[in-house]
Amino acid sequence: MGRVTGKVAIVTGGASNPGLGRTTALTLGREGASVVVTDVNLEGAEKTAAEIRAAGGNAIAMAQDVTNESRWQEIIATTVSTYGKLDILVNNAGIAVLKTIADLTLADFQRQIDVNLTSVFLGCKYGMVQMKKNGGGTIVNLSSVAGLVGMATCGAYSASKGGVRLMTKVIAVEGGADNIRCNSVHPGVIWTNMQAAAVAGQGRQQPETGQMRIPLGRVGQPEDIANCILYLSSDESNYVTGAEFTVDAGMTAI
Ligand SMILES: NC(=O)c1ccc[n+]([C@@H]2O[C@H](COP(=O)([O-])OP(=O)(O)OC[C@H]3O[C@@H](n4cnc5c(N)ncnc54)[C@H](O)[C@@H]3O)[C@@H](O)[C@H]2O)c1
Repeated sequence: MGRVTGKVAIVTGGASNPGLGRTTALTLGREGASVVVTDVNLEGAEKTAAEIRAAGGNAIAMAQDVTNESRWQEIIATTVSTYGKLDILVNNAGIAVLKTIADLTLADFQRQIDVNLTSVFLGCKYGMVQMKKNGGGTIVNLSSVAGLVGMATCGAYSASKGGVRLMTKVIAVEGGADNIRCNSVHPGVIWTNMQAAAVAGQGRQQPETGQMRIPLGRVGQPEDIANCILYLSSDESNYVTGAEFTVDAGMTAI
């Protein structure tokens, strides 16, 4: 209990259930942060915020399309008017456009980059302005194992996640003087609505978990990622910035 007590967090993409944003928001709320849960799906974000409040925490929900620049400014302004500051930004919202390079259209590619990469740029740009005002903060950007290694049908997705990985390091370099930390998290196969849709797109019901692919031999749960994000959000990681955290049961060790 209390690993982020007194801190104020924004978590994007917090509606999906099961989803990484929802579990992260619940985890930060349980550990004492006040949480602004955002999503294009406001009803889902409201449910997450209500769960945090029901457990005794502080949370509000806001509708947000993370590709919209002026909405980012409104989200941060409301966070500050409601809770007084911004300590933690988790750029989690994302989509997966999974097609071979031959099948990807230019519109597919641009949509993937807008939702997964341009959004992170906007969140960091405006989040850093506020964090500087309140003496620092920590940003956690969701990348992927697909931002580290090549995988078939991940041309656009990997381009977006590889971009997130390196932009994270630039933000760490630029933000250091203002006590702003920035790290990326690289999940492997975690059971969420996104993963279920990806598996269904491959004509299967379960992810392939053979030990040649995932050494621990099992699919991850959202808590496996939320626990890493909690560490990076807390003061326990005060000397950690510009780093990439692979949480993949050994997938990329092969
Ligand atoms: N689940 C995995 O195995 C896995 C692996 C690697 C990386 N990731 C990354 O983790 C993050 C969360 O993934 P997830 O599996 O929980 O996905 P999910 O699809 O279950 O949830 C994503 C959430 O983002 C929201 N969203 C989508 N577009 C948005 C937009 N334009 N603006 C605001 N919200 C928007 C959705 O409504 C949804 O609530 C994503 O960035 C994803 O790429 C997931």
